[in-house]
Amino acid sequence: MQNFDGKSVFITGSGSGIGRATAVRLAASGARVAVHDLSTEAARETCDMIRGAGGVAHEFLSDVSDVAATRAVVAAAEAKFGGIDILVNNAGTTSDFCTLDEVTEEMFDRSIRVHVRGTLFTTQAVVPGMKQRGGGKIVNVSSISGTVGNPMATTYNAAKGAIAALTKGWAKELAPFGILVNAIAPGPTITPMTTNRLAPEYFTERAKQIPLGRWGTAEDMAGAIAFLASPDADYITGQIVSPNGGLVIT
Ligand SMILES: NC(=O)c1ccc[n+]([C@@H]2O[C@H](COP(=O)([O-])OP(=O)(O)OC[C@H]3O[C@@H](n4cnc5c(N)ncnc54)[C@H](O)[C@@H]3O)[C@@H](O)[C@H]2O)c1
Repeated sequence: MQNFDGKSVFITGSGSGIGRATAVRLAASGARVAVHDLSTEAARETCDMIRGAGGVAHEFLSDVSDVAATRAVVAAAEAKFGGIDILVNNAGTTSDFCTLDEVTEEMFDRSIRVHVRGTLFTTQAVVPGMKQRGGGKIVNVSSISGTVGNPMATTYNAAKGAIAALTKGWAKELAPFGILVNAIAPGPTITPMTTNRLAPEYFTERAKQIPLGRWGTAEDMAGAIAFLASPDADYITGQIVSPNGGLVIT
């Protein structure tokens, strides 16, 4: 495991799933974690898990698409920790799963607000502090929907594709400031986002299409995020790393 002693990390949507697993993993490796979420209860639960294991965590609450509220919690986290070294833009919601002709303006706006507006303006809030500190690491959470597309997922594909494009542009723009920007593009992953929505039989059927024969876990994703956030990835920027069990090989 990597060593994150002395590092402060801000993780959006870390009250559940991939965000929580990342928070727990980085805290276990020495990071102080700003656990950000929409849900007070979920954020508190993650903080309790981290503190219970002897780590350092504080909760910060906002809807990531509310720019003013998210700027305020980023400022509060910077004040609490003396700066943010690592940002993980993870907060997200599931796709609406419908055909192209069924997509509504509301579906489009909801997906873009949370994923694109959230990622963009949280990053805008964190970057000035990183520049002042001489660098930082940003890991965005895209999806295979954003890299190879999925049927019945128009608004989600659009949002996750935008996150992949933002990652590449920011990697070039922020490299002179020592800020490295990468993304993970998870394949099918077992988290509340999928278990709350999909029938158990779907997991079995889908697993048959995955060369490694199983769905990803939140911990699989946390491992890839931890790698990209660590000094082991100091020469990697602008890349989309896709933990997907071999489902997508480009
Ligand atoms: N689970 C998968 O199969 C899968 C695959 C590819 C990508 N992803 C992406 O991974 C990320 C994490 O998803 P997960 O599977 O862990 O889901 P999850 O539902 O378990 O966790 C998502 C967390 O984000 C929070 N959140 C949602 N909207 C928010 C908002 N507007 N402001 C602040 N917090 C908000 C939720 O409260 C929740 O705690 C998402 O961006 C998702 O799109 C997931």
